[in-house]
Amino acid sequence: MSKKNTKIKIASVELKNPVMTASGTFGSGREYSDFVDLNRLGAIVVKGVADKPWKGNPSPRIAEVYGGMINSVGLQNPGVEHFIKEDIPFLRQFDTKIIVNVCGHSVEEYINVVKRLRGEDIDLIELNISCPNVSEGGMAFGTDKNMVNMVVGEVKKYADKPLIVKLSPNVTDITEIAKAAVDGGADALSLINTLSAMKIDIYRRKPVLERKIGGMSGPAIKPIAVRMVYQVCKCVDVPVIGMGGISNSEDAIEFIMAGATGVSIGTANFNNPYVTMEVIDGIEEYMDKYDIQDLSSIRGIID
Ligand SMILES: Cc1cc2nc3c(=O)[nH]c(=O)nc-3n(C[C@H](O)[C@H](O)[C@H](O)COP(=O)(O)O)c2cc1C
Repeated sequence: MSKKNTKIKIASVELKNPVMTASGTFGSGREYSDFVDLNRLGAIVVKGVADKPWKGNPSPRIAEVYGGMINSVGLQNPGVEHFIKEDIPFLRQFDTKIIVNVCGHSVEEYINVVKRLRGEDIDLIELNISCPNVSEGGMAFGTDKNMVNMVVGEVKKYADKPLIVKLSPNVTDITEIAKAAVDGGADALSLINTLSAMKIDIYRRKPVLERKIGGMSGPAIKPIAVRMVYQVCKCVDVPVIGMGGISNSEDAIEFIMAGATGVSIGTANFNNPYVTMEVIDGIEEYMDKYDIQDLSSIRGIID
């Protein structure tokens, strides 16, 4: 296989390749370790971690739709103490970077998690200010530029690792949110989180999801995600991690050409647990075929 340079840098952290897992779709990696050589991943982005265990939302909380799915899982997680005790030692067995996705209902809760992670053996923090499935906090923080600026600024004070801020696509102008996050101190951005969505069961005359509205992910959202990544990369100078509907290496390369430094794979893991490995191989094959020595030569080549 190729000896070409697939390395990327997110803030001060070097990843062996741009391929990561999208938070919430890969657990803490354990669930996939029978299918996937976790050592080959650029990074593992773990499921959202809160300061205390969260129960998540009532079922049904997953609905299949054309080209993807809608979920209202609501960031169910066993909390930061459990993560530190169980997941960090598991993940550290592998030669990959650990990105901890942090969630909260309030600025204080975000800060509690970030403070607790200080000194722990992780590489980067991803702040989820964009989840549509939590009643307080979550997306509310990510859809107002002044809030974004404030939350990022506050959390940044306590983070001892570079901070990636994950943006919501449920906004009118993604560029003003991106700029507010960078002004607040974001070292990198990731986008997109899920798009607010709904499905109705016409025979039961009820929404399919108990919470009625959830977040849509999967192949159907990819063109929207590519457009947003493209717009954001044109207006900020920090690295961007692109995601939304990536199902193969061609999709991943599209995001890189739109300007993304890294790519995350989410919903596709559910259909094809080998997808991350296929994307890594496919990017290398593309580089070989078109004699690309370094990914930077195709990054952001679209004017
Ligand atoms: C079941 C499920 C759970 C998710 N949980 C989280 C989460 O905990 N934190 C987060 O930032 N994003 C979460 N996401 C959003 C994904 O990380 C990703 O941004 C989104 O699904 C778009 O990528 P995809 O189309 O490749 O899935 C979740 C998505 C799904 C489908």
